[in-house]
Amino acid sequence: MAGMLEQLLSLAAAGVMMISTSLNAAAPQNDIDGTLFLQNRQWRVGSAYIPAVRVTEMQGKVRELRDDAAAALEKMAADCKEATGEILVSVSGYRSYQTQASIYQRKKDSVGTKRADQYVARAGASEHQLGLAMDLGWDDYHGTSEKFPRSKAGRWTSENCWKYGFILRYQAGWEEITGYNQEEWHFRYVGLEHAKAIYENQMPLENYLLLVRQDALMDIVLGAVEE
Ligand code: DAL
Ligand code: ZN
Repeated sequence: MAGMLEQLLSLAAAGVMMISTSLNAAAPQNDIDGTLFLQNRQWRVGSAYIPAVRVTEMQGKVRELRDDAAAALEKMAADCKEATGEILVSVSGYRSYQTQASIYQRKKDSVGTKRADQYVARAGASEHQLGLAMDLGWDDYHGTSEKFPRSKAGRWTSENCWKYGFILRYQAGWEEITGYNQEEWHFRYVGLEHAKAIYENQMPLENYLLLVRQDALMDIVLGAVEE
């Protein structure tokens, strides 16, 4: 009798392990080294997370990004120059937890907490810490500006970034979901396949991740039914 109970318990444990492995596979928002990792006001990362980054070959200031994002941005900048004659400029790429803390503090000191929170993530909440986000300027403008999409380079980049694996992360009307005001200059690398799908769906990353998870769970359930 005791033997049977043990057998049942170990079967149940194996089942739970299988389910949790499948659920993890269906949760790319938890894979910190993947391109769909979700870092926002709600989902934060500690100071210990430091990605491998490299200097992106382009003009500008803070140019470090993860290698896959850097390569995609270099190609996008070259094609932008060819298409528009204007140069994409790096304003701010990878930022450590500590750098983000200082940027937030400076903003808070100058405009107060409420306004700072609309534009700058607190330490641990910025996807710049992932090495997958880049703020872009153009030609001689080396700062972030709402005028970016009115420049030739900015308009081209906003329309074409998905072809290089980037999304325009914070758009008007999405504030309640993303947690931030519109930022015409902040591009997030998610990889080609996802950038195309997000562009076609015109939705924030948060909503897209729900869809991905739903699809993955459905595949798991259907797979289990078929077995
Ligand atoms: N400006 C964005 C929200 C950041 O600080 O990551
Ligand atoms: Zn940014």
